[in-house]
Amino acid sequence: MTQPTIRTVAVVGAGVIGRSWIRVFARAGCETRVFDPDREQLARALEWARESAEEDEALGFIGSGAAAAEGRVIRRCDTLNQALSGAGWVQESGPETLAVKQRIFAEMDAAAGPETILASSTSAHDMSRIADGLAGSHRCIVAHPVNPPHVIPVVEVLPGEGTGPEVLAATLAFLESVGQSPVQMNRYLPGFLLNRLQAALIREAVFLYGTGAASAEAIDTVVREGLGLRWALLGPFGTGHTNADGGAGEYYRRYGDAYRDLWADLASDPAFSDRVIDGIHAETEAMHGPDATAALCAWRDRMVRRIRALKDDDPLP
Ligand SMILES: NC(=O)c1ccc[n+]([C@@H]2O[C@H](COP(=O)([O-])OP(=O)(O)OC[C@H]3O[C@@H](n4cnc5c(N)ncnc54)[C@H](O)[C@@H]3O)[C@@H](O)[C@H]2O)c1
Repeated sequence: MTQPTIRTVAVVGAGVIGRSWIRVFARAGCETRVFDPDREQLARALEWARESAEEDEALGFIGSGAAAAEGRVIRRCDTLNQALSGAGWVQESGPETLAVKQRIFAEMDAAAGPETILASSTSAHDMSRIADGLAGSHRCIVAHPVNPPHVIPVVEVLPGEGTGPEVLAATLAFLESVGQSPVQMNRYLPGFLLNRLQAALIREAVFLYGTGAASAEAIDTVVREGLGLRWALLGPFGTGHTNADGGAGEYYRRYGDAYRDLWADLASDPAFSDRVIDGIHAETEAMHGPDATAALCAWRDRMVRRIRALKDDDPLP
């Protein structure tokens, strides 16, 4: 990993996403200030970050002594001002409500130095609305991670209407320098890229299950043992490029009509009723056993790290 382009950062809001961001920044060697108005939540997040780093070290995902090194750069802050004083980057990860985000951004804009970039983890909101009317709207930007960002590197970056081009460039460079994979979106759309793509697939999965076309296990197996194996390596267009000897152009021209016919046949309303949700839950629980969620999450995180290490050893041509 290269040196971080910004050395002092603040994590504002230390819930599920904020605590994982602590690991991203501390692992990269940034002085990482952490603030949450809920003192107990703050204490829990710092404890989680310590345990998570120790577990990573025990599993060999980070080097010997790296967990202690992370601990040395993390600072607990009891006020927003203390967290932001001298910080070059702020990662806001507070509640997902527009009015709350607007309030937090107004407070951060007043507390932060003039050069500080104010980034939001929001999954849904447009920075043009969050930062509307702020004196520092030019330094506000969306940096939407995938949960958990210390394991999954993609971060969707969306400038608002007022965001400065130099802030966008500095954001992409900083996220890259702390080991993430920033992806720029050119204009705001609800759900950004990741959740729109995810929602498109889940809509069809729910339709197939709900109409009895296939079991939950069959649908999960097609993704887990089929599409997903390729998608961990290549996106939909990269996959198309490997599905015909002449590449994506040949593939999509040859199968264009087949895709158009299928798109016309796909469900627009998959009838996402309680009956369907209960059925999905019961069949998924039967697949993995009762109370398997925590073990599944831990396994998923270990395997994602191993897949990423394999990809680092044999990178995308
Ligand atoms: N959980 C996910 O899968 C996920 C994925 C990507 C992005 N996000 C986004 O990350 C953000 C945080 O989500 P989360 O899942 O961590 O939520 P969470 O409820 O786990 O954490 C939110 C934290 O914000 C704190 N908070 C409340 N008021 C605050 C304030 N005024 N200032 C600062 N902190 C405050 C809460 O005490 C809490 O610790 C949201 O915008 C969410 O959309 C979540």
